Amino acid sequence: MKVNSILELIGNTPLVKLNKVVEPDSADVHVKPEYLNPSGSLKDRIAVEMIRDAEEKGLLKPGYTIIEASTGNTGTALSFVGTQLGYDVEIYMPEGMTRERIRIMENYGAKVHELPLASGSEGSIAGAEVEIDTRIKCLEIESTNDNIWWARQFSNPANTRAHVKTGREIIDQLGEKVDAFVASIGVGGTLYGVAKALREVYSDVKIIGLEPASANYPLSEGFTRVPGTADEVCGGIIEDMMLSGILDKVVKVSNEDAIAMSDRLVKEEGLFCGISSGANAYMAVKIAKELGPGNNVVTVLPDHRDRYLSEKKYTT
Ligand SMILES: Cc1ncc(COP(=O)(O)O)c(C=O)c1O
Repeated sequence: MKVNSILELIGNTPLVKLNKVVEPDSADVHVKPEYLNPSGSLKDRIAVEMIRDAEEKGLLKPGYTIIEASTGNTGTALSFVGTQLGYDVEIYMPEGMTRERIRIMENYGAKVHELPLASGSEGSIAGAEVEIDTRIKCLEIESTNDNIWWARQFSNPANTRAHVKTGREIIDQLGEKVDAFVASIGVGGTLYGVAKALREVYSDVKIIGLEPASANYPLSEGFTRVPGTADEVCGGIIEDMMLSGILDKVVKVSNEDAIAMSDRLVKEEGLFCGISSGANAYMAVKIAKELGPGNNVVTVLPDHRDRYLSEKKYTT
């Protein structure tokens, strides 16, 4: 393969069948190792889609600075794609994320600002919750400075559009019916985009969203706005997705189950993925057992394990 730019390597990740972690008498489970994207996560797909869309609309011009609120992967992807396309990039992160996430962004040439973590946000909390304070900061910067473009991954329709393409890749690569798709929900773009593409072709495909068992505002009990937050920093894709009725259900996965399965994916399947990948595969394997042979369950492995290695609890 010969390419003219590293950006051409975004997307078109393979579809890999799991062999060891699936129980006997189960459906087949297929995963897309999204950590094979150049900056190590599925967020490369949305970074390039959101930037190109903003350029076409005249919202992002040469000399502008791209800003975003991120717990890591979107910040990394925007740092990678943004600097490649000649922009300055500044990322606002909640405190407490691993050091290597910050170092990866800085290596690409971005500036990273850490903001105090919102109270009550310890443990594994949905990204959409933990990012609220950093989004408020981005809104403030955008409204008081010129030549700034805030990517707004949580409500940018280009995010969902990028993952409609992920869904179409799955359909083409599998070449058989997709019976169920499972994905953890951060800002919701992956699940909503893939679900839209799959439902166009397979109207009865089961769509299952996952959230951390420790989520403060569980989507499994319905969408609730984080109290006191305005439309400009809350809702967006998640709210649209929840109200659209496209999901069959949202289920909780514990940290322990997610970590244990991510360890198994590395050791038994050779897939060097992060923790939400473990959550996705854990639930995909469970659903595969329920559906039984002759069915196909698909999920994504959102990111690379390199960004978790300094955390003892993630490295057995
Ligand atoms: C590691 C990881 N897994 C899963 C997700 C969920 O993706 P999305 O934001 O598209 O819902 C994200 C993003 O927030 C993520 O960083």
